Amino acid sequence: SWTTGNVIEEQVALIREQVGDKRAICGLSGGVDSAVAAALVQKAIGTQLTCVYVDHGLMRKGETEQVEKDFVAATGVQLKVVDAEERFLTALKGVSDPEEKRKIIGREFIRVFEQAQAEIIADEGPEVAFLVQGTLYPDVVESGGGTGTANIKSHHNVGGLPEDLEFQLVEPLRQLFKDEVRMVGQELGLPEEIVQRQPFPGPGLGIRIVGEVNKERLDLLRDADAIAREELTAAGLDRDIWQCPVVLLADVRSVGVQGDGRTYGHPIVLRPVSSEDAMTADWSRLPYEVLAKISTRITNEVADVNRVVLDVTSKPPGTIEWE
Ligand code: XMP
Repeated sequence: SWTTGNVIEEQVALIREQVGDKRAICGLSGGVDSAVAAALVQKAIGTQLTCVYVDHGLMRKGETEQVEKDFVAATGVQLKVVDAEERFLTALKGVSDPEEKRKIIGREFIRVFEQAQAEIIADEGPEVAFLVQGTLYPDVVESGGGTGTANIKSHHNVGGLPEDLEFQLVEPLRQLFKDEVRMVGQELGLPEEIVQRQPFPGPGLGIRIVGEVNKERLDLLRDADAIAREELTAAGLDRDIWQCPVVLLADVRSVGVQGDGRTYGHPIVLRPVSSEDAMTADWSRLPYEVLAKISTRITNEVADVNRVVLDVTSKPPGTIEWE
């Protein structure tokens, strides 16, 4: 019968058999899937696994610390953190176009991750032969069921590595649905904030700032987003909504009055949605008191924000994210 205990036991045995005495690398994104996959592999092979976390500086408040501290404390995993904030912000300088932002973030991410992989191989030798991925059952079905290997092009020339590194994939979540992955993560003792995390896009807050991305704007959006998340959690609404992007309209200003005078600040958009699979979505009918609390707190606590607006568009026609 299906129990999380059985799944863990079975996967641990399979991973040990597959990896043997070789070594594996796993990229952590801060999301549920990569965290649970890493925790399972860690349980199976311990220090033969090295995790890599690329901090692109576009995460929400506290998320990087969650990976660096809480995830490591819960699993004992060996973690390499790459602080690449400067690099990403430099690459994003002057860019406002959403597709351009996505392209830059994706490209930089791959470069930084490959560099980290090459360094691990330089340190640990050629027995690094496996790459862990948090592929879920729906991803397997969608992509036609293929599995196998990943080719990593190494254009960094670290320590005389071969031009093309071929990794075998370890995919311990291939038979699981999202809710089952969360249950396995819980059973493995992962932090609640990671196990119950709602979807968050790879490009992070970079695509939730309409306009150019910079550190100041990111900090502002992080503060507003943290308030919205805090109040939604306090109201017990996390399970009712699919996700709630908080968006900064950085190129828009409007007039307000705060304290003793006139302000000319930026609007923050709340985008709470209900959905089954993110293909379609409806705007969530959140209680007015919760919206009021979020609005009051954001305008009081976040400098330069003098207006909070609610997005009442379904998908279609609107996408969930603004960019
Ligand atoms: P949209 O905005 O297309 O979003 O309605 C649908 C879902 O996908 C998430 N999303 C992304 N996830 N990389 C990701 O990993 C991305 O580039 C990306 N863009 C959107 C979004 O948060 C929503 O859950």
